[in-house]
Amino acid sequence: MRALIAYATEHGSTREIAERIGKVSSLRGVQVDVRPTDQVDAIEGYDLFVIGSAVHDQQWLPRARFLVRRCAAEAPGRPVWLFSVGMPGALRWPLKRWAYAEEPKLLAQFDGVLEPVAHRLFSGVIAPEHLSLTGRLVFRAIGGRYGDYRDWPEIEAWAATVAQASSTAV
Ligand SMILES: Cc1cc2nc3c(=O)[nH]c(=O)nc-3n(C[C@H](O)[C@H](O)[C@H](O)COP(=O)(O)O)c2cc1C
Repeated sequence: MRALIAYATEHGSTREIAERIGKVSSLRGVQVDVRPTDQVDAIEGYDLFVIGSAVHDQQWLPRARFLVRRCAAEAPGRPVWLFSVGMPGALRWPLKRWAYAEEPKLLAQFDGVLEPVAHRLFSGVIAPEHLSLTGRLVFRAIGGRYGDYRDWPEIEAWAATVAQASSTAV
């Protein structure tokens, strides 16, 4: 089983999540390549795809959306798992609920393109220098808290699920 784990990041947190998913998967016997979505050459040699993107304005970064379309066109029918990295963790209730509510919108980006095996929205990292002045004002107004909200046990458990499903699919 050969898996491509591809990520699109602006500030690095999605890359580190992809690398952790790769590490967990390879420890479970999956042969893994971890690459930025815009540095993927041939995809026909992979049995499985895990594609993740930072979320900006409730959408994936365009280069990650493009790779999903490539998978659908060039490797139709092969399993594709998706993860998004956003900021639910940085918000308090009830706004946290609003942040998780973006999940259907994220998935809707792939309507008619492909049906992923599963999608998970993880919390990432948000720092003042990532945002414009307007962005910082809005973030403050909605009570956002800067920080690293990645839940590594949650990420590793999801990666283990992907690896487990992959090995039973062989
Ligand atoms: C300009 C900008 C817009 C963002 N918009 C959203 C958003 O709409 N929804 C969300 O959940 N997170 C949003 N975020 C939070 C990021 O997706 C989150 O911080 C993530 O960890 C960034 O990943 P990266 O470090 O791989 O770039 C935004 C961050 C920035 C900088």
